[in-house]
Amino acid sequence: MKKNYITEFKRSRWANAEFSREYRDNADIFVVERSRLLEIMKSFYRYFIGDSKKNNVLDLGCGDGILTHNLLEIDNTISATLVDASDDMLNKANERLHGFENINFIRASFQEILEKDILQQKFDFIVSSLAIHHLTMNEKRDFFKKIYSHLHPGGYFMNIDVMLAPTDALEQWYMQMWREWIDERKTSLGIEGNIFDDITRRYKEFDDNKPDTLDDQLSALRDIGFKEADCFYKYGVFAVYGGRK
Ligand SMILES: C[S@@+](CC[C@H](N)C(=O)[O-])C[C@H]1O[C@@H](n2cnc3c(N)ncnc32)[C@H](O)[C@@H]1O
Repeated sequence: MKKNYITEFKRSRWANAEFSREYRDNADIFVVERSRLLEIMKSFYRYFIGDSKKNNVLDLGCGDGILTHNLLEIDNTISATLVDASDDMLNKANERLHGFENINFIRASFQEILEKDILQQKFDFIVSSLAIHHLTMNEKRDFFKKIYSHLHPGGYFMNIDVMLAPTDALEQWYMQMWREWIDERKTSLGIEGNIFDDITRRYKEFDDNKPDTLDDQLSALRDIGFKEADCFYKYGVFAVYGGRK
């Protein structure tokens, strides 16, 4: 029987409006060094892609459009395509990017993108943040191939995501560092009580999270043919990596 991928996505927690609202409201606390991650993406864009021509950008698992919004702030000539399986997130992205031109939204799950020719164009920069870890390693590999096929020669892919640590000891420390980050943020924002203290436990228990090691993901990129595949930044489980077609 043919799978209905949107029905499958609806079983995930991201299909729950309350869950996605909680993420949007608190991502600056949950996501370690979120503003630094965005700065790295912008530096990469300025350095390798630049604004000398109109670039076609694809944002996979766009959420409320924060990545595209940050890129539009440094290059408002971008044509952007934002993909997410959640209507709720796409509505928020639409609100956030109101007033910008050349913005397209596609409601599709990554699994549908793997199955069908949904994207139908090539891009100069494909970016994703905190979404690809919902795919298994086999799906990730196929998804990276799909991404490669939708890049112009010389185009770049960047993924900002959570990684599986290569050993248990490192995993324990990375979780500890993550909790320390959340505590730091709570202190600086004057948040009291045990709110957000269970984020790392929830992350580990949530079976939609299927992180793989950075090494496996970089190897997959290199095997597919990505050049200059490297990790550009890492802090515990959070990493930024990518490569060029
Ligand atoms: C943690 S949020 C990240 C949103 C945004 N990229 C950011 O950095 O704030 C993950 C996003 O991926 C989307 N997502 C999760 N699984 C997906 C799938 N299988 N296909 C498409 N989108 C998915 C969710 O709806 C959500 O918007």
